[in-house]
Amino acid sequence: MKNAVTRLALNLVGRSDQVRPPDPAALLSALPVPVALLDVANRFRSLNHAAEQFLGISASQARGLALSELVPQDSPLFLLIDQVRRHEVTVADHDMTLDGPRLRKQGITVQGTPLPEEPGAVLLTFLDASAARALDRQLSFRSAARSVTGMAAILAHEVKNPLSGIRGAAQLLEASVAEPDRELTVLIRDEADRIKDLVERMEVFGEKPFERGAVNIHRVLEHVRRLAQSGFAAAIRFSEVYDPSLPAVFGNRDQLVQVMLNLVKNAAEAVTDGEVANPEINLTTAFQHGVRLAVPGSDRRMELPLVVSVRDNGPGIPEDIRANLFDPFVTSRPAGSGLGLALVAKIVADHGGLIEVDSRPGRTEFRLHLPVFTDDAG
Ligand SMILES: Nc1ncnc2c1ncn2[C@@H]1O[C@H](COP(=O)(O)OP(=O)(O)OP(=O)(O)O)[C@@H](O)[C@H]1O
Ligand SMILES: [Mg+2]
Repeated sequence: MKNAVTRLALNLVGRSDQVRPPDPAALLSALPVPVALLDVANRFRSLNHAAEQFLGISASQARGLALSELVPQDSPLFLLIDQVRRHEVTVADHDMTLDGPRLRKQGITVQGTPLPEEPGAVLLTFLDASAARALDRQLSFRSAARSVTGMAAILAHEVKNPLSGIRGAAQLLEASVAEPDRELTVLIRDEADRIKDLVERMEVFGEKPFERGAVNIHRVLEHVRRLAQSGFAAAIRFSEVYDPSLPAVFGNRDQLVQVMLNLVKNAAEAVTDGEVANPEINLTTAFQHGVRLAVPGSDRRMELPLVVSVRDNGPGIPEDIRANLFDPFVTSRPAGSGLGLALVAKIVADHGGLIEVDSRPGRTEFRLHLPVFTDDAG
């Protein structure tokens, strides 16, 4: 065995004049898994690029910083680190919550590894299982959107036509029935109108081709904000954090307006339920590398570097509807149709994008990941 290892080492050395082995530091920084090295006093010695993003702190800020600045001292993470040092073995813990002033993560798998060359140092790797789950959920949203597509076509055919017959008949009756019965014919007409409205809202789910081009998402957001502030969100404070260098989205402007409007409307409804002291909606855009989605039926991966988020300080999404949030007709509001988020899911899926949700009391965020416009995008 030892021979084999030596041979391998010699092989590498022997070939090094032709192919330089990659620099370990460069490999570590390219690794898409967050890795952080702690010294014996639990201070950060180094972070790779993924760990910077995961912990929300740059490597230079982190150097020398105590872990307890990010994670409270009573966190099970410290227990794990102690075990690594005490037994000099790798220890893993699943479904950990990292909850500090600057960091909030759930469902994290943390692995701690001792470094024999550096007594007391511990290498931590973090795996965010919730990211994988979010992707899972997104894929199921897509199938929810598809099932609505079929239903929309059926409804349009099978309901709308007979409905206009019913409405017409009620109108004819209205003219000839006695006064006490007129109320009933009006009821039939009004209810028929209500069903027609609903069917028309469903029709937008139908499979229609749409044009895509370069869309300035900031213009879309500002348009939606103006609409909201001159109507349903007049009493709500808006704040924006826009990345002005953000490139254009590859999308359809009107559909993106619809998406943002639905999200902002939900946020506005959430913060005006009377319990929220300072109702606020925040709109954020950012550029983020590394989010890719497989294109169905091919081995291509689509980059989704544009992140657009709508955040509110409302009470959060009710627990009982979270699992089916994007399904049609799921609503907690007496007057809601439950079609808003189903439509959002459909449009985002049609754009090849992703949608993620984080929600807890006081902070609900819907994050869209969208493709960028390039000259050969079409
Ligand atoms: N920002 C939010 N905060 C809290 N709950 C939310 C938020 N956004 C959506 N929800 C919940 O998700 C449900 C579904 O939203 P969706 O937009 O699909 O339907 P709706 O708003 O109830 O009806 P419609 O959009 O058709 O008027 C809402 O009823 C609400 O319970
Ligand atoms: Mg809604």
